[in-house]
Amino acid sequence: MSEPLLEVIGLGKTFAVRGGLLGTVRGEVKAVGDVSFSLSKGEAFGLAGESGSGKSTIARMIVGLTAPSAGAILFEGSDLASPQGVASRRAIQMVFQNPGSSLNPRRSIGQSIAVPLEARKLGRAHIERRVARLLDLVQLPADFRVRYPYELSGGQKQRAAIARALAAEPKLLVLDEPTSALDVSVQAKIIELLIELGRSLGLTYVFISHDLSLMRNFVSRVGVLYLGRLIEVGSVARIFDAPAHPYTRSLIASVPVISDAEQAMKPKEPILEGEVPSPANLPKGCAFHTRCPYAFALCAEIFPDAVALDVDHFARCHLLAPGESRLRDTAAVRAPGA
Ligand SMILES: Nc1ncnc2c1ncn2[C@@H]1O[C@H](COP(=O)(O)OP(=O)(O)OP(=O)(O)O)[C@@H](O)[C@H]1O
Ligand SMILES: [Mg+2]
Repeated sequence: MSEPLLEVIGLGKTFAVRGGLLGTVRGEVKAVGDVSFSLSKGEAFGLAGESGSGKSTIARMIVGLTAPSAGAILFEGSDLASPQGVASRRAIQMVFQNPGSSLNPRRSIGQSIAVPLEARKLGRAHIERRVARLLDLVQLPADFRVRYPYELSGGQKQRAAIARALAAEPKLLVLDEPTSALDVSVQAKIIELLIELGRSLGLTYVFISHDLSLMRNFVSRVGVLYLGRLIEVGSVARIFDAPAHPYTRSLIASVPVISDAEQAMKPKEPILEGEVPSPANLPKGCAFHTRCPYAFALCAEIFPDAVALDVDHFARCHLLAPGESRLRDTAAVRAPGA
């Protein structure tokens, strides 16, 4: 395999929680812990997880908006925190969930798209040609150049935000729930556009969503987050057809399907009960043990190592054994060091 475009190694982020008039530190939120994954060029990688699982924090660290507290992010082999890495940051752009707030209401669409071009000191005529080309790429009419955000629908605004991200000629686009503010029919159109752009421009994507079904036709691999930890990573085929971690299995079991045949193939898992614990007070051991139908004593004590289930498929669960995606009986599990 070629050298990865992006390597995320042991990434962590802890936020200090401040309170009171003096803003003294009252505690900490472990938003992301020990997250590692890598992406090859042209690949689309999906990051899935419930609200608060750390998806946006990971996205913001990759694009340099939030400084990691642990670990490293390598882009084309250089650490993004090094001078060489800082120089390559323009090649990583982000598209946010809410296109309304990411476009300046006082700027025309053309002016917004031109911002990254002006920063590069290109001539007026050159910028105008680029803006026209970018509007065409995201399939917006040429006269949208002179329109303002309030005149556009949500989907059109998101297309404009994508055009602006593309103006910087990125190699990697980090898409943080880019369609979750949009109607379902518009969501599908935006995903289609992203797939097309990915092919024609050779883009690499990190696609973030709480909605697994949305990723299925878009990404090639999926990482599942639970309370800031990657608990399973695998190809789309493995995650959807042979999910291994009890949490992933529950997520897949709740994905709506259209045919009885598909329904029959889904894992039979109980609906998850209980609330997601607070990242300000993470449960000991495997953070999922408080909601896991299979949890036993070891789970409340020790965070499981990653178990390799197949080529490019791993999960963190004490009930998993290498090479198999079936959960073992607790009697077959020996505590580490036992
Ligand atoms: N600047 C911050 N200061 C303190 N805590 C923060 C900060 N940013 C995020 N958090 C906390 O970190 C955790 C992860 O937040 P994050 O926004 O990354 O989750 P998410 O998966 O993107 O959620 P959502 O699906 O709601 O967008 C949450 O508990 C959140 O409250
Ligand atoms: Mg988020």
